[in-house]
Amino acid sequence: MTDGFVRRDGTLWCEGVPLPLVAEQVGTPTYVYSASIIRQRVAWLSSALTDVPHRIHYALKANATHGVLQVLRDAGVGADVVSGGELHRARRAGFAPADIVFDGPGKTTGEIREAIAAGVKVLNIESMGEAVRIAETAAAMGRVADVGLRINPEVTVENFHEYISTGEAGDKFGIPYHDAMAVAAWVVAQPSLRLVGLHMHVGSMLYGFDAFGAAIEKLAVLIDRIREAHGSAAITMLDLGGGLPVAYADGDETANLDGYAETVRRAHARTGCTILLEPGRLLVAEAGVLLSRVLYRKRSGGREYVIVDAAMTELIRPSLYDAHHEITAVHERPGAMRADVVGPVCESGDFFAHDRDVAPVEPDDLVVLETAGAYGAVMSSNYNARPRAAEVLVDGDRFAVVRHRETYDDLVRLEDETPSWRPV
Ligand code: LLP
Repeated sequence: MTDGFVRRDGTLWCEGVPLPLVAEQVGTPTYVYSASIIRQRVAWLSSALTDVPHRIHYALKANATHGVLQVLRDAGVGADVVSGGELHRARRAGFAPADIVFDGPGKTTGEIREAIAAGVKVLNIESMGEAVRIAETAAAMGRVADVGLRINPEVTVENFHEYISTGEAGDKFGIPYHDAMAVAAWVVAQPSLRLVGLHMHVGSMLYGFDAFGAAIEKLAVLIDRIREAHGSAAITMLDLGGGLPVAYADGDETANLDGYAETVRRAHARTGCTILLEPGRLLVAEAGVLLSRVLYRKRSGGREYVIVDAAMTELIRPSLYDAHHEITAVHERPGAMRADVVGPVCESGDFFAHDRDVAPVEPDDLVVLETAGAYGAVMSSNYNARPRAAEVLVDGDRFAVVRHRETYDDLVRLEDETPSWRPV
């Protein structure tokens, strides 16, 4: 378990709050987040980068719950959003528009308008079509939009799953490397656009910095060429995206922040740009657990099953990426058993662990799925008409329900009792 989650007299606590108390008062399944771990992760990353002119823009996609965003905002970071909804959430949590970067490969005209109206720091363009759309939208609004170009550096990325590598030739993200100069020339010629930066995000859970460093150098070459062609003032910001890894399994490596900082430092020295960073997972993953209760145990075909009340609807990472999350009993249970830990959803893909050594838990025991603060609640669904889980924020010896458990009424709230037919 990460610091912040501690065992006292055999029971797991989050900071000063015993997890059984949360289960008793709020029920299960429930996400539990530690504010102090979030603050500590921000401080850790910032202190590694003290000598580099930079700005951290937390990637909301990792966890966008209002209470969590408030902790991050108070910790002093900016925001990285990829949709109008995330922009709305970031602003509601008090992030200043000038401290928000807007990414994403398919911004709608409505989203572009919202971003320009708000006055975001930069809109990162991912295609020529989007450049045209942003130029037209800004012109119609009588505004000049600060834009960056998200470049696909076309490097080979090594991370744990192909779904989260984004900087290889042919990926859907960014402007293909060899088109970049043409798009830059077009953008620079538009009176409604101001080209202020280049952007990349080569993938998530990046362990080494070889691909990351190679990609930075490819962007640095472009920056040289753009400055040569369009004046030395062009491009003041270089946005390196997210990608810092966290340890999911006991014994996994943690992020090499010194190595990362060294690469970032070189990027600044090479380009003179202010460096923007968009970490998501690093800041929140280890701050969260998914608290769940064991419903049943059963044996089938020689396998031992533990059926818990959380499911792929709360945490889809195992189903989607075969991702590993440690499963720990809240009340210590000595010994171990080999089991499959699964949820109640009617899909074989609804599992948390296959054939894993886990504590010999019994029905009614509480367990946590660890390292669930990033890409957990945000990726949840109502499949099988399951109300979304509650989310709790712990700060010291107090806790708050920052998202209430959905009710059955919430499930059907947007559906008309009978269709209101529209004649055509
Ligand atoms: N910036 C951009 C443009 C991104 O696409 C992402 C993540 C980030 C920043 C933040 O990356 P991080 O620091 O969290 O690695 N659902 C997957 C992860 C998808 C990441 C998508 N993009 C998972 O559960 O592992």
